Amino acid sequence: MKKISDRVFYVGVNDDDKVLFEGLWPLPVGVSYNSYVVVDQKVALVDTVESGFEEEFLANVVEAAGDRQIDYLVVNHMEPDHSSLVALMIQRYPQLKIVANAKTVPMLAGYYGVSPEDIIVMGEGDSLSLGSCSLTFHMIPMVHWPETMVTWLAEEGTLFSGDAFGTFGSVDEDVVDCEETFEQFRDEMIRYYSNIVGKYGTPVQTALKKLAGFDIKRICSTHGPVWEKNISEVVALYDKMSRYEVERGVCIVYGSMYGNTAAAADALAMELEARGVPYAIHDLAGNNAGELGVSGALRDVFKYDTIVVGSPTYNNGIFPPVETFMKALQSRLIKGRRFYAFGSYTWSGASVKLLNDLAAAQNFEILGDGLSFPQSYTREKVDMAAIAEVLSTVR
Ligand SMILES: Cc1cc2nc3c(=O)[nH]c(=O)nc-3n(C[C@H](O)[C@H](O)[C@H](O)COP(=O)(O)O)c2cc1C
Ligand SMILES: [Fe+2]
Ligand SMILES: [Fe+2]
Repeated sequence: MKKISDRVFYVGVNDDDKVLFEGLWPLPVGVSYNSYVVVDQKVALVDTVESGFEEEFLANVVEAAGDRQIDYLVVNHMEPDHSSLVALMIQRYPQLKIVANAKTVPMLAGYYGVSPEDIIVMGEGDSLSLGSCSLTFHMIPMVHWPETMVTWLAEEGTLFSGDAFGTFGSVDEDVVDCEETFEQFRDEMIRYYSNIVGKYGTPVQTALKKLAGFDIKRICSTHGPVWEKNISEVVALYDKMSRYEVERGVCIVYGSMYGNTAAAADALAMELEARGVPYAIHDLAGNNAGELGVSGALRDVFKYDTIVVGSPTYNNGIFPPVETFMKALQSRLIKGRRFYAFGSYTWSGASVKLLNDLAAAQNFEILGDGLSFPQSYTREKVDMAAIAEVLSTVR
C-alpha cells in the first residue's frame, strides 16, 4: 500500500513470477496490476488485481481504508488481470455496489455471477459523488476491450486510465514516478503497447483526443508507475505509437533451422553497424532465440521504419516462427514501413517471395526482390553490404 495523495491510495501488487503475460508475452522485469482506493465520505475502489494475490491485495485495501466499508467498486476494464478479485471484494464487503458501464454488465455476470441489480450503471460523462469529490466516467472502447472506460477524479486532476498508458515492469516502493522513471520504463512501455494494444491505434487516438481536454496532473494506470512528472512524455509516446510513427532504423527479424539464414542476418547486422544505422536483431527460433522473441521484435517494429525479415524455405513455405511474426504484423495493422526479405533454401526457394507477398498486402514499401540464396551463406553468394547500402539511404 502506498499513499499517493490525501484521498488516493495505491493498493496494487507486483507479479514477478508470471512467465508469460496473456500466455504469450515474456516478463523479464515483471508486471504490476494496479488498483486504487479513493477515500472520502464514501470509499471507492478502482479495479482489482489478478488472481493469486488475494491476501496481499486485501491487506493493501484494509491498510488504505482502515475499518471503513468499501462503498463502490469501479470496474474500468474486465480483462481478468484487473477484474479477477471482484467476487472476493463482494464477499468481503457485501454491501459494496459495483460501478460500471452497460457493456460491462453482461461480462460481470458471465465471469463472476454478478447480478445486474447490484450494479450502478454509468454512461459517458456520468458522475458519482463520494462527498467532497466525485468520479466521472468516460468510455475508451477498445483500449483495450470494448467495455473499457476511464475514471476521472477532477478534484485531484487524477485519471484512472485502465490499460491506457500502461507498461510492463513491476514498480518500486515509491510507485510514483521521478524524473528518470520514463527512460527506465520506455522500452517496456513500447513492448507493452506493441504486444497488447498495438492493433488499436485508431481507438487510442480517439481516446487521446477525448482526454486532451482534461487537465491531467496524475495518471493512475493499471500497469506500471503512477505518472506525475512524466505525463507529457508518456502521453506523447502513446500518441506517437498509435499513429504508427517511427524513427529511422532497421529491425532485423529471422528464424533459422541450420544457421544459414542466421549467418546472413548477422552479416547484415555487422554491415549496418559499420554504417552507423540504428538497428535491432531478433532470432525467433533455435538455441540463440532471444528471450523476448516475437514480443521484442514487435517492440522494435514500433520503433524503426524498416523491417528486414529472414526465413528459410520450409515445406515450400515460410518457416513457422517467422510466419507467426508476419501474422502479428498483420493483426496489428502495421503500416508505413519499408520491407526487405531474405533466406536460405536448398532445392527451390519459396519463402522470400511469400514474405514479399505478405508485405505487399500490408502496403509496405518493398525494397527490391529480396535475397533468396541456395544452401550455405557466404559473402560471395550473399551480398549483405549492398543491402545495407540500400537500407542506410535516408528516405
Ligand atoms: C523440414 C524442412 C523443410 C524444408 N523445405 C524446403 C523446401 O520446401 N524447399 C527448399 O528449397 N528447401 C527446403 N528445406 C531446406 C532448407 O530451406 C535449407 O536447409 C536451408 O538452408 C535452411 O536454412 P537455415 O540454415 O537458415 O535453416 C527444408 C528443410 C527442412 C528441415
Ligand atoms: Fe487489458
Ligand atoms: Fe491490463
